[in-house]
Amino acid sequence: MEKLNAKSLDFIHDVVNRHKDKMGPVKLMLHDIQDELGYIPFEAMEAISDATGEPVAKIYGVVTFYTQFTTMPKGQHVINVCLGTACYVKGSQQILDGLVELTGAKVNSTSADGIFSIDATRCVGACGLAPVVSIDGTVYGNVKSVDDLIETVLSLKKEVA
Ligand code: FES
Repeated sequence: MEKLNAKSLDFIHDVVNRHKDKMGPVKLMLHDIQDELGYIPFEAMEAISDATGEPVAKIYGVVTFYTQFTTMPKGQHVINVCLGTACYVKGSQQILDGLVELTGAKVNSTSADGIFSIDATRCVGACGLAPVVSIDGTVYGNVKSVDDLIETVLSLKKEVA
């Protein structure tokens, strides 16, 4: 496993110090770390454990219980494909399959080159635009097939390369 860089470790220690004397500090710390780093590294769970006295196993339990936390680093670009009913009946599963093939990222994980993460999501509340895909927070509605997104995805890939 790759070691965390000094900047990320400093950030984790700042967050831990900022929240350690508050009520319910574990979730506050996890939220800030997830927001900044995009995931919860093991080092963060250790630092939280040291500061709060909670066992690492208990903190890991919190991380895995709540879907907003993940222990897997996200790719540089995050693609969400809605698999809610309205999107599904309009072909979002085929779009998802096409994006998996295009990016090399499996569903709910990150491509080996670290460029893309693909998440299958539930209804995102934009059913009128079904099927809906979001790429780095930009929503694409009425996506007819993965072909509509190829140019965007390839340009992101080229940007990073
Ligand atoms: S089902 Fe996809 S936005 Fe509602």
